[in-house]
Amino acid sequence: MLGKIIRNQKLNDKYYLLEIKCEEFVREAKVGQFIMINTRHHDYTSDPLLRRPLGIANIDGDKFTLVYMVVGKGTRLLSEWQKGSDISFSAPLGNTFTPVKEQRTALLAGGIGIAPIFWLAKTLKEAGCIVDLYYGGRTADDVVLIEELKEITDHLIVTTNDGSAGIKGMVTEPFIDNIESYDTVYACGPKPMLRAVSEIAVKNELPVEVSLDERMACGLGACLGCIIYVKEGDEVVQKRCCVEGPVFDGSKVVWDTVCK
Ligand SMILES: Cc1cc2nc3c(=O)[nH]c(=O)nc-3n(C[C@H](O)[C@H](O)[C@H](O)COP(=O)(O)OP(=O)(O)OC[C@H]3O[C@@H](n4cnc5c(N)ncnc54)[C@H](O)[C@@H]3O)c2cc1C
Ligand code: FES
Repeated sequence: MLGKIIRNQKLNDKYYLLEIKCEEFVREAKVGQFIMINTRHHDYTSDPLLRRPLGIANIDGDKFTLVYMVVGKGTRLLSEWQKGSDISFSAPLGNTFTPVKEQRTALLAGGIGIAPIFWLAKTLKEAGCIVDLYYGGRTADDVVLIEELKEITDHLIVTTNDGSAGIKGMVTEPFIDNIESYDTVYACGPKPMLRAVSEIAVKNELPVEVSLDERMACGLGACLGCIIYVKEGDEVVQKRCCVEGPVFDGSKVVWDTVCK
C-alpha cells in the first residue's frame, strides 16, 4: 500500500509520531494489528532490505498513526521522512486484541509498547469500559503522549525506573496494589514485563492478552523467524508471532522460550 505522510513529529530525543493518510489501510485495520513499513528513501538502494514492524497506534478518519523509537538504521531513516512524501507499507497484519465491553480493564504499557495500547484504550473507552493505564518507562523520555492518554483513560498511572516521571519503580507495582479492581488485563512492552503481568493475572484468575514485539523478518508467515511456543491443551505448539500473533493469551505463552 501507499500513503501520504501528514506529519512525522519528533516527540522527544527518542520518540516520533508518524501520521499517514491512506483510506484503504484505515478501512482494513483492526485494533492490535501492526504494519511492515519501508524505511528506505530511494528505490535504487536495497538497504535496509527488510521492512520494519510497527504497531498501529491510532486511526482517525482516513489517517493512521504510528509511534516509534529510533533504535537503529531503519527507524533513523524513518525519522528523516518528510511531510508530503509518499511512503509504502504492508496491509494491516497479524491478529487483534479482543476488546471487551463495559468491564473494568487494566492496560499496561512498557516503553514503546504504548503504540498498540493507545488505540486499545480508545476502543475500550468507546465500548463503555473503565480504562486504567499503567505506563512505565526507564526515564521521563520513555513516556510520551501523556496529555492525549489522559483524555482516553479513566486513570493514568505513570512509573519510571529512576523516578524522573511519575512513581519511581516498576509498572507492575501499582497494578498489583489495585488488582482486585479489574475484570480483564491487556499489556504490551518488554518480554520480562509481559511475563510478570501474565503471572500476576493468572494468579488472580484474570484473563490477560499480551502483544509480543518479537523480532520479525518477513512479517508474512514465511521465514519462521518469529516463532514462540504456547500451550494448547496438553501440548506445546509453535506459533508465528506475525501471523498467529502478535496478540496472545498471556496464560498460554511458554515464557521460558520467549524470555531467553
Ligand atoms: C509486532 C511488532 C510491533 C512493533 N511495534 C513497534 C512500535 O509501535 N514502535 C516501535 O518503536 N517499535 C516497535 N517494534 C519494534 C521495531 O520493529 C524495532 O525497533 C525496529 O524494527 C528496529 O529497526 P531498526 O532498523 O531501527 O533497528 P535495527 O538496526 O534492526 O536494530 C537496532 C536494535 O534494536 C533491536 N531490535 C530490533 N527489533 C526489535 C524488536 N522487535 N524487539 C526488540 N528489540 C529489537 C535490535 O536487537 C538492536 O539492538 C515492534 C516490533 C514488532 C515485532
Ligand atoms: S516474521 Fe517471518 S514468519 Fe514471522
